Amino acid sequence: MSGSEGSAFVVVANRLPVDRIVAEDGRTTEWRRSPGGLVTALQPVLQAAEKGTWIGWSGDSSHIDPFTLDDMRLHPIPLDDEELRNYYEGFSNASLWPLYHDAVEQPIFRRRWWTSYERVNARFAERAASVAARGAVVWVQDYQLQLVPAMLRRLRPDVRIGFFLHIPFPPVELFMQLPRRLEILHGLLGADVIGFQQPLGAQNFLRLTRHLLDMKPKGHSVMVDDREVKVESFPISIDTASVEELAASEKVTRRAKEIRAELGDPRNIILGVDRLDYTKGIEHRLKAYRELLSEGRLAVPETVMVQVATPSRERVEHYRTLRSSVEREVGRINGDFGQVGLPAIHYLHQSYDRAELAALYRVADVMVVTPLRDGMNLVAKEYVSSRPDGDGALVLSEFTGAASDLKQAYQVNPHDLDEVKAGLLRAIQAPESDRRKRMRAMRRHLRGHDVKHWARGFLTALGVPETATAYNSGK
Ligand code: ADP
Ligand code: G6P
Repeated sequence: MSGSEGSAFVVVANRLPVDRIVAEDGRTTEWRRSPGGLVTALQPVLQAAEKGTWIGWSGDSSHIDPFTLDDMRLHPIPLDDEELRNYYEGFSNASLWPLYHDAVEQPIFRRRWWTSYERVNARFAERAASVAARGAVVWVQDYQLQLVPAMLRRLRPDVRIGFFLHIPFPPVELFMQLPRRLEILHGLLGADVIGFQQPLGAQNFLRLTRHLLDMKPKGHSVMVDDREVKVESFPISIDTASVEELAASEKVTRRAKEIRAELGDPRNIILGVDRLDYTKGIEHRLKAYRELLSEGRLAVPETVMVQVATPSRERVEHYRTLRSSVEREVGRINGDFGQVGLPAIHYLHQSYDRAELAALYRVADVMVVTPLRDGMNLVAKEYVSSRPDGDGALVLSEFTGAASDLKQAYQVNPHDLDEVKAGLLRAIQAPESDRRKRMRAMRRHLRGHDVKHWARGFLTALGVPETATAYNSGK
């Protein structure tokens, strides 16, 4: 389907914005919102675009015809069991994910994973080539699909190709560990614009082109043959207006009151919301909380913590180990400090809808976001924009992309437990005027730097004419 009847704007991401779930009866299926920040950010972008198509994995191995959902044209790509193990759980999530996050867990390299990574990337590239209209914009997303830009360029030299990495891009010394590093680099250089969350990621990439390919980057670009490739940073964000609107809705306001009552109307509610991922520093934060309780600097039931941890990548070894140690720590905290009917920590290993999360944000006196490394962290931004009352306090790791945007947060080094403890106490004890002043500045920033701002910045760098996607023209 190339040519005029194809799509003018195509997003290619490992996952579709919805996941196909087979119900317990084994027969009926439903579509559920997919986990993670990539989907949160891109869904409003694609919904606003005219003739937008999203190509992504359906969440299982069945072949499903393209369909339309919430103003988006979705093209499901199946992955079989072998691909799930080798491409997704293996090369993407046991090699690339830990390596790109500063090797906070040891990256694992297995030769058999590579062929699968290549094959799946080729499948995504071929589908994009068949869906894109002549001269279309194809926007490839994230570490699972780093070979797609060059593959697609070979198939369709007429399209504009963007690539955005949602996670950090590591320093040269770390990237050099990666088997197949040259193929990955050439794959990315197939794009016209390569976007990173932070200026440091873009710098790391440019240094790498010099180091591995002897290229001579000039400013924010490198030449590949006679083609210019722009390498820049575009910090991603949330759909601020819709987050604010949901949080202020009557339903969420009512539910927030209920939650506070259900928690026993404590003075301090501390909240953590993460995918259950070892990059998020969940263990560090739990340990800090336990020490504060054991030193008597915090006490139950005056203080209570809620930790929501969305199930994630559950068959990957690193994630299994993490789940056991988080659950052990939660048990220990409740065993030592809980009382009958009054746990010190509520641990919820579940996914929630946006309204329930918004209600949790609204009751959290302190939100604690302590990743050891995170490309951005949209949870921190959602919290700030979910406080129509203007109150709340954000404790934020300085190793998140969000720390560059949310400068007024109580920032901490998550590796320094004493600093995390001090940050938590500072946030709990801060005078109301200080908390409000900080939140006001951060909320203002997010209004001017929402996901539309991000998408426009990227698409403009890609040279997309104002009219080519309704989104870029600010529809
Ligand atoms: P990551 O992309 O690494 O998961 P982000 O913080 O950038 O981290 O994005 C996480 C997204 O997932 C946010 O939009 C957040 O609201 C959503 N989310 C986190 N936990 C849950 C949960 N338990 N249920 C539903 N959505 C969740
Ligand atoms: C992060 C990654 C995304 C990924 C998401 C959820 O946000 O950057 O690419 O989709 O986590 O992870 P999963 O492996 O469940 O898709």
